Amino acid sequence: MKKIIPILLFIFLLACTGEQSNMGDLLEEPYHPIPVKIATDLPFPKMVIPTDNPFTEQGIALGRRLFYDPILSVDSTISCSSCHHLANSFTDKRSVSLGVNQTPGNRSSMSLLNIGYHLSGLFWDGRSSTLERQALIPVEDPLEMKEVWPQVVKKLKEHRAYPALFRQAFGISDRDSIQKELVVKAIAQFERTLISSGTSKYDRVKKGLATYTPNEAMGEDLFFDITADVKDAECGNCHNAPFFTTFEYANNGLDDVSDVTNFKDKGRGKVTGDIYDNGKFRIPGIRNIALTAPYMHDGRFETLEEVLEHYDTGGHPSPTVHPLIRPLNLTALEKQQIIAFLHTLTDTVFVQNDAYSNPF
Ligand code: HEC
Ligand code: HEC
Repeated sequence: MKKIIPILLFIFLLACTGEQSNMGDLLEEPYHPIPVKIATDLPFPKMVIPTDNPFTEQGIALGRRLFYDPILSVDSTISCSSCHHLANSFTDKRSVSLGVNQTPGNRSSMSLLNIGYHLSGLFWDGRSSTLERQALIPVEDPLEMKEVWPQVVKKLKEHRAYPALFRQAFGISDRDSIQKELVVKAIAQFERTLISSGTSKYDRVKKGLATYTPNEAMGEDLFFDITADVKDAECGNCHNAPFFTTFEYANNGLDDVSDVTNFKDKGRGKVTGDIYDNGKFRIPGIRNIALTAPYMHDGRFETLEEVLEHYDTGGHPSPTVHPLIRPLNLTALEKQQIIAFLHTLTDTVFVQNDAYSNPF
């Protein structure tokens, strides 16, 4: 008996020290966050960065990894990038996105280009106010990643690489300090780096580094109503420069609805509770529009030709349709000229940027 006790005690001590070194191992990881500044030569306003989520190299790197990691989904089949592909300016080519088990969602995926500048609400209906809050949603959406946060956090704590990466990004001292709040902070940091490169033809023309073809120039004039003797296609009132959106909510006449309560997707009205917001959706920024088909919140239009046809006919009547949605009487050539102009908004350098690609 006398001999067993010290042995048991020894084993017990071993177990404890094993445990302790496991908890304390993160302190050996360096924590030297390198601050990052947003740089763009485009006339964009200053991006608002939350004071509790400063932008660092390590935070961005962690966020990029999480964005591409299916660990956030219930069965490790999909990641954020499954519905937001870099090559398509972070959309997914579908009218509605597919979640785990190929379950169809309700709306079309949205481009994440310049997403850090969006201050009037995220999603088609603006129901999320910040990128940090937005990133909480897809993980638990039953039509998307169908996972629960405590489970994601558990998987990350037990992961061989993540605890050290969270330490490097946020200075945590043990695995148990990994929380969903830090996960979404990192993802938001990565998303804030998704900024126009400034090399689209449109931007190069504005910088005096390129010139439009005659059709592109006519398309810009129709779009923005620059000269009085060219028709006004009204586009620029809602899709204005530099982001090609006013960030407001509008009904652009997609549905023929006589009663304001009858919209299939109420859009903004469901968020504000105001029935006169029914049928309104966030005016999307249309930089990179040639890469993000199909179009509209439900992906109903496959091509830009169909989009132009829609606006040209004046859309469908409903109580909340915007007054600028009216028959435009454009000729076939004028519609093609607007489309030629829309193509000048394509930013190929952005969609080929290695810093945004899958790090695995
Ligand atoms: C199953 C497909 C799917 C997955 C997975 C997914 N998204 Fe999305 N995302 C969408 C769709 C669809 C919308 C528009 C939904 C709506 O308006 O209701 C959207 C909208 C967004 C927006 C709003 C964009 C804007 O302009 O307002 C952001 C930001 C975003 N997603 C980021 C993420 C992040 C981060 C993840 C991973 C944590 C993620 N998404 C996972 C399909 C997906
Ligand atoms: C009254 C404001 C308004 C005007 C004017 C307007 N749009 Fe839009 N546009 C919107 C809204 C709102 C949406 C999103 C509608 C939805 O999905 O429910 C949209 C969507 C689009 C889309 C699809 C974007 C995507 O990501 O799917 C394109 C392309 C587009 N507009 C181009 C144009 C062009 C070209 C013109 C001029 C002929 C124009 N718009 C005029 C408000 C407007």
